Amino acid sequence: MKIREKKTSEIISELKNIAALSRRYISAVITYTVMAVFSIVFGLLSSLVSQSLIDFVTKSQHADNLLEFKSIQGVICAAVFFAVFRIVFSAINNRVAEKIKIRIITELTADTFDKFICSNWEYTSDFTSGDILNRFNSDVATVSASVTGIIPTVITKIFQFGGAFAIIFYYDPIMAAIALVTIPLSLICSRFLVRKMHQYAKDLKKMSSKMMAFNSDALLNMQYLKSFGLVTVFCSKLRELQREYIRLSLDYNKFSIIVTSIISFVTQIVTYACFGWGVYCLWAGAISFGTLVLFIQLYSMLSGSFSSIINIVPTLINAVAASERITEIRNLPMDDELENPETEQFFDKYKNLPISLSFDNVSFRYKEETDDALNSISFECETGDFVALTGASGEGKTTMLRLFLSLIKPSEGNCSIQSRDKNEKIELGPSTRKFFSYVPQKNTMFGDTLAANMRMVKPDATDTEIEQALKTACAYDFVIKEKNGIYCHVGDGGTGFSEGQMQRLSIARALLRDAPIVLFDEATSALDIDTEHQVLENLAEWGRNKICIFTTHRSSVFEVCNKAYMVTDTDCISIL
Ligand SMILES: Nc1ncnc2c1ncn2[C@@H]1O[C@H](COP(=O)(O)OP(=O)(O)OP(=O)(O)O)[C@@H](O)[C@H]1O
Ligand SMILES: [Mg+2]
Repeated sequence: MKIREKKTSEIISELKNIAALSRRYISAVITYTVMAVFSIVFGLLSSLVSQSLIDFVTKSQHADNLLEFKSIQGVICAAVFFAVFRIVFSAINNRVAEKIKIRIITELTADTFDKFICSNWEYTSDFTSGDILNRFNSDVATVSASVTGIIPTVITKIFQFGGAFAIIFYYDPIMAAIALVTIPLSLICSRFLVRKMHQYAKDLKKMSSKMMAFNSDALLNMQYLKSFGLVTVFCSKLRELQREYIRLSLDYNKFSIIVTSIISFVTQIVTYACFGWGVYCLWAGAISFGTLVLFIQLYSMLSGSFSSIINIVPTLINAVAASERITEIRNLPMDDELENPETEQFFDKYKNLPISLSFDNVSFRYKEETDDALNSISFECETGDFVALTGASGEGKTTMLRLFLSLIKPSEGNCSIQSRDKNEKIELGPSTRKFFSYVPQKNTMFGDTLAANMRMVKPDATDTEIEQALKTACAYDFVIKEKNGIYCHVGDGGTGFSEGQMQRLSIARALLRDAPIVLFDEATSALDIDTEHQVLENLAEWGRNKICIFTTHRSSVFEVCNKAYMVTDTDCISIL
């Protein structure tokens, strides 16, 4: 019972989220709804004109027309007028709906993207890229479509239902009563089905994310797959996932078909009952032939609008499941403030003055882990220092760099930047990232020109500045051999360059930023001894007024460092 209540309250709370989103676009949604109502009014008027036309032609004695016409020409003119207006309105309506939909999709995608990218790194790294892409594209589109689709459809269909029902009721209350029989049954069915549909929708979305993650992983690791002869294994694994997806989709489909068939069956019986009753009234002389045609048209409008409202249930459930997945992103813990006036002031004052960087008894544990990755670590360095952090693999060197960059927060202890005289101090946080430049352990080149990649860290960098940074990183020689020099294209993830070349490009990009502290995470691990030596020599010259911190296993790096620490999960011992 508790689980059921929880599920219902989850669905209701997600519906509130969708309603809140709709409120943001309320004027657009109202415009769309009003236009749709207009086209329904013209539809109802067209039916009444058809009734008048038939009664005019059959010269029925039982004619009781809501719209009275004096001549056949008048009826035809009205029929043409309403038909044309209806078409024009529905065309304008389609256009307005598309505009609203595009606006909502783009805005919601951008909002979700902003939220994700500003969330805490530790939480965002839990998502696979395939899952995130699926949420950005498919789920955002589903929720946007529900904002433009569901509320206006419910309102317009209720209006259509009410209008058709009122006219039927005006002519024949018994016929109206018969037409209403479908409502209670359909409501009972949909109430019973909502939860089951919700579960199906969630499972399907999870499955589709799993497939997307599988695809993106396979594409990223093509070279590995081919080299290990895993192509056929992956091809059949995809098919296996697809079979699971098909089974789930078809189960859901079977379930929906059974439900809609029951509802259609009842609707069909009621349709025959209405038709039979109409024919009886005509035979008994209670209504005209035109009114019978009007009844048939209105009943089909009535049942059409009713089944549209019922069909909204699965659409709504799907939108709820999609909205839950977007809400999951929106609820991720945010990074602390990226901009902070105190940091700005400190940065403006000290960006070119000596500073020190220190850890004071810092501990950190990754959120899903039971042990600390770093335990009570202390460390200090200052401008002009070249620091090597070494230690066995998995002991916490990269974790220390993540703490410097405030990608993660210490569970205990303080990380700070201080003026050299120690009179001024600022705690590390996302806003202090401007003090740092970083060469990550993994290559992080974007699919764009090399110059664009470089200018990501310094948008106003001149070509000469870029070339200078490339020279310092020993990357200039191979870049000028490219057809377009610094404007050559870099493939997604750096394809087109060797690992060692990409490392040098990453180093050049970090230097271009010209930050007071530069972090190098195994930044020269792919270079040959001579090139590494040259790069380090250039860095030693370039970084005399910086703090340069290297994580490394290589002795060559130690040669340019005046400080070295052995990092273990419980210590950071000075060894130089
Ligand atoms: N995102 C993460 N979630 C959970 N645990 C993590 C995460 N990243 C690293 N760890 C764990 O934290 C510990 C330290 O990892 P870290 O990457 O800092 O090691 P490292 O010293 O840089 O190793 P290497 O020399 O191999 O690069 C390891 O035990 C690792 O399993
Ligand atoms: Mg590492």
